[in-house]
Amino acid sequence: MARVVVTGWIPADALTSLQGHEVEVWPEGQAQTAEQRFAFVHGAEALLTLVSHNVDADLLDAAGTQLKIVANVGVGFNNIDLAACSARGVIATNTPDVLTDATADTALALVLEVTRRFGEGQRIIRDQRPWAFGLFGMLGVGLAGKRAGIVGPGSIGIATARRLRALGMEIAYAGRSPMRPAAAEELGAERVELDELLATSDVISLHVPYTSQTHHLIGAAQLAAMKPTAFLVNTARGAVVDEAALVEALRAGQVAGAGLDVYEHEPTVHPGLLELENVALYPHMGSATVETRMAMARLAAENAAAVLAGRPPLTEVRASGA
Ligand code: DGY
Repeated sequence: MARVVVTGWIPADALTSLQGHEVEVWPEGQAQTAEQRFAFVHGAEALLTLVSHNVDADLLDAAGTQLKIVANVGVGFNNIDLAACSARGVIATNTPDVLTDATADTALALVLEVTRRFGEGQRIIRDQRPWAFGLFGMLGVGLAGKRAGIVGPGSIGIATARRLRALGMEIAYAGRSPMRPAAAEELGAERVELDELLATSDVISLHVPYTSQTHHLIGAAQLAAMKPTAFLVNTARGAVVDEAALVEALRAGQVAGAGLDVYEHEPTVHPGLLELENVALYPHMGSATVETRMAMARLAAENAAAVLAGRPPLTEVRASGA
């Protein structure tokens, strides 16, 4: 029987694969300081971690040398120091695929909200501001026939492209690797360099992992390269975009609007974004459906159970080059 520590609250239903182990889950709704987390993980052989929790060398050392696996409940794993894990012989895993549709739905919602000004409209009603139907009031822009630029043509990028294609958009993409051929064919997707994608797309949706190479991938120069009528959507990681540069570009009218689910310094949001009507802001809820979050938690638990039983994990992640 191993001690398994879950650093955020997860319902017991999602943890049945860990039956027989001593599973300790952080209580629901209870705030947590980093110091408390360090004490909580002590003695764990497996950790289930949230993407908002940093798993660095200090946390691994606080857990102890018996630690075998860090199972992240999330597809993104930039919160985990993979080199520190591998130096200690600790396996790291993530939860790919199970959140693809939910995240793509969120990207679609952001695209629609920001291009059609739905959030702005809702604020008028909720603030009880006077309004009346006007033929040329509250106009947004249509998407059919426009060009969607997908940055990062992995599973979530493809699923987002499918949704935008269903709205009648043309699909272009930029990325380190080509899109899966069947998906590229189905979508009629054109591969272009990032510069061209930025200069020619009407909606740009980001789907790259956060790494040292993608830090501020979209900065002042890239925003300046976008059409002033174009919209930027980010459901990937906040720091892929230089948030201060985005605020400046929005203020200057260099881009038409932005839809964000993730932020550079979560949970803090750049105050400049809060002042702008042409920005849709969600609190990192891309994968937040009951079905998806349960599937993510179950997959993380299965990864931990496998490693504790001496089997290989289902979805291991490794440092590039490792
Ligand atoms: C992830 O999985 O990386 C998301 O950010 C949270 O679902």
